[in-house]
Amino acid sequence: MNRYRILIVEDDPKMNQGLLHILLKQGYTAESVDTGEKALAKIKATKYDLLITDLKLPGIDGMELLRAVKAYAPDILMLMITAYGTVDTAVAAMKQGAEDYILKPFDMEEFRLVVKKTLEKRALFLQNLQLQRQLKKKYAFDNIIGTSETMMTVFKTINNVKDSKTTVLIRGETGTGKELVARAIHFNSDKALKPYLPVNCAALNENLLASELFGHSKGAFTGAVSDKQGLFEAAHGGTIFLDEIGDIGKGLQQTFLRALESGEIQPVGSFKRKKVAVRIIAATHKNLETMVAEGTFRKDLYYRLNVVMIDLPPLRERKGDIALLAHHFLQQYAAQNKKPIERISKEVLTLLDAYEWPGNVRELENIIERATLFEQSGDITKASLPETLLHSSTRLECKIMGQDIKSLEQLSRNHIEKVLELTGNNKTQTARLLKIDRSTLWRIMNRLNIS
Ligand SMILES: Nc1ncnc2c1ncn2[C@@H]1O[C@H](COP(=O)(O)OP(=O)(O)OP(=O)(O)O)[C@@H](O)[C@H]1O
Ligand SMILES: [Mg+2]
Repeated sequence: MNRYRILIVEDDPKMNQGLLHILLKQGYTAESVDTGEKALAKIKATKYDLLITDLKLPGIDGMELLRAVKAYAPDILMLMITAYGTVDTAVAAMKQGAEDYILKPFDMEEFRLVVKKTLEKRALFLQNLQLQRQLKKKYAFDNIIGTSETMMTVFKTINNVKDSKTTVLIRGETGTGKELVARAIHFNSDKALKPYLPVNCAALNENLLASELFGHSKGAFTGAVSDKQGLFEAAHGGTIFLDEIGDIGKGLQQTFLRALESGEIQPVGSFKRKKVAVRIIAATHKNLETMVAEGTFRKDLYYRLNVVMIDLPPLRERKGDIALLAHHFLQQYAAQNKKPIERISKEVLTLLDAYEWPGNVRELENIIERATLFEQSGDITKASLPETLLHSSTRLECKIMGQDIKSLEQLSRNHIEKVLELTGNNKTQTARLLKIDRSTLWRIMNRLNIS
C-alpha cells in the first residue's frame, strides 16, 4: 500500500489511461480527469499529495491550474507535463510552484522516477517539519533533547531532585550529557542564583585538588603565601559539580566522606572546621560498583554519593533520539555559521542511524557542526560527512562477519573441494555425489575458480 494520493489531469485519453495505469501499478492511490475545471473541483473535495498536469488543456490550461491550486491548497506538490519542450515553459511552471516538469515525449520509466523522486522529497519535507515541530515543543529541560523513554526518566528525576539538597550521582559514557544534566539540575533549581562551581577531579593531583576544594591556610605548604578560600566555601548555598569523581585517590575519598557526613570542611593546614551548605552533584564515566568491589573506591563514600543516581544511556541505545538531536544541532550551527541549511537528507539520516556513536552526543554534535560548514547544498548530504561515518555500515557487516557467516559461494567452494578430495578428484563421481551432472559441475568449478 502506498499512502500517497495522486491526481492526473490529461486530455489525451490514451495518455491519461497510460499514466493512471502506471501509477496504480506502483501502488499509489491515483485518479485522473481530463480538464483543469474537473481537477479543481476534485481538489476542493479531497486531499491530494501530488497533482500531475498537462500544460495544454481544453479549458483552463495547466499554468492557470497551477496558480489556482497553489492559492487553494499550497501543500500539494505539482508536476507539469509539457510537449513544448522549451526551457521557458518549464521555468515558468517552476516559478508557479511546480516541483519539476516532464518533457513529452517521455518513457514510462522516466515518468515513474520523477514521481518517485518528487514524493520522496515530500516525505523528507514532512519528516523535517515534524521534527522541527517536536523541537519547538518544550522538553522538560530546554536544551536537553530527547524523547526516548530513558531520557524521559532522566527528565523526571531532574525535576524531582532539583530543589532538594540531595547528592546526585550522574553516570554515563563520555559525551552522554553528564555536565549538561548537572547544569540543568542547578539552573532549574531554587539555588539557580547561587554559584554553580564545576571542578574536574581528574585534572589535578590530590594535594592541589584538596586545596582547591577545601582551601588552605597561609604557610600550609610551600607557595601558600596567604589563606585561600576553597570552592566548598565559595559555592555556599549553591552547587559544586565534582566531575570524574571516580578518579580521586583514597586519601581524598576519606576527606570527602567526612565533609559530606558532617557538613563541615577543614582547609589544608588548618585546624579550624567550617560549616558549609552546598549541594553536591558528582559525575563519572567509570563503573563505581566495580571499583568498590575491587577496593579502589570507598564503599561508604559510594553510598553517600549515590542517594539519587541518574544513568545516562549511550546514544546507540536510544537511536530514536538521533534524528531529533541532529536537527537540533543543525538549527544551532546553521544559524551560528549563517548557512541556509534546513534539512538532513534521508541517506544521511540512515547513516547516522547505523553508526555506533562511541563518542555519543558530543560526537554527533561535532559531526553536524562540521557538516554544516562543509555542506554546499541546502540539505546535509553524504558529501559533508567524515569517512568514519560513511563506513559504518561496512563496520556493521564486519561485526556480523565476526560471527563467521560465510557466503554461499564460499560454502559451495569448500563443499566441492571436500568432495573432490574424497573422490580423489574424480569428477564423474563428485557430480553424482552432489546430485548434479558433470557439465554443471564443470560450470560451477569454472565460475568459482576451482582447479
Ligand atoms: N540530550 C542532549 N541534548 C542536547 N545536547 C546534548 C545532549 N547530551 C549531550 N549534549 C551535548 O553534547 C556535548 C557533550 O555533553 P557533556 O559535556 O554534558 O557530556 P559528558 O557526559 O559530560 O561527557 P564527558 O564524560 O566526556 O565529560 C555538549 O555540547 C552537550 O551540550
Ligand atoms: Mg563532562
